[in-house]
Amino acid sequence: MDGNGRWAKERYLPRVLGHRSGLKAVRRSVEFCHQNKIEFLTLFAFSSENWRRPLEEVSFLLSLFQKSLEDEVVKLDDNNVRFKLIGDRSKFSTKLQDLIQEAETITHGNTGLTLTIAANYGGRWDIVNAAQQASLNGHAKLSEEILSQYLQLNFAPEPDLLIRTGGEVRVSNFVIWDLVYTELYFTDILWPDFDESCFYEALSHYSGRERRFGRAGVEQEVSMKYIADS
Ligand code: FPP
Repeated sequence: MDGNGRWAKERYLPRVLGHRSGLKAVRRSVEFCHQNKIEFLTLFAFSSENWRRPLEEVSFLLSLFQKSLEDEVVKLDDNNVRFKLIGDRSKFSTKLQDLIQEAETITHGNTGLTLTIAANYGGRWDIVNAAQQASLNGHAKLSEEILSQYLQLNFAPEPDLLIRTGGEVRVSNFVIWDLVYTELYFTDILWPDFDESCFYEALSHYSGRERRFGRAGVEQEVSMKYIADS
């Protein structure tokens, strides 16, 4: 969700107001996914590198997150949304950790959209953490199947589409293990401006791609079969 700071700067506003506007775009995206029956939405809200930002900005982001949990969990639950958090939550205040746990417990049985917030999350941390957990559970020899059971996104299918706003063309330590076959979509739109029409555009871009998972394309496979048969 890149571009909150620049969105604010363009309006001569403090960066934190860009984050407040970014939160409105979060709500719009959740509603969009709910209405369009998208089953999993994972948002990168706070990376493990974001602690390096000015203290004032970090505190604002964490309090925005805390307030959203306090205000919006009932609404999520009413709409059959399951809330999950991925990342190292041990660095958060006890109050925030309790709210996260409570939100996950309340919405646990919901069967509609799974909304996952990545907070204090890093893809490399995720892989190392999974390896450590697997080893603690007695797995002397690791395999892809075993490791993936211990990854933070073990409750979700691998993502179909990654959308990054704000003109950056990088993965930046997001869910790096899970992204290997994910279609990547980059847009210059700043996150607070990302609305329903932008989401539709990303989806139509995605639906035009042919996903091959390492195989040849459909046309090539048909023609190879023809050669083999003849
Ligand atoms: C990146 O934009 C955005 C963030 C680091 C924070 C994302 C937070 C929100 C969208 C609001 C809160 C969300 C929740 C779930 C409560 P940037 O600050 O790097 O902007 P820039 O690229 O223009 O500098």
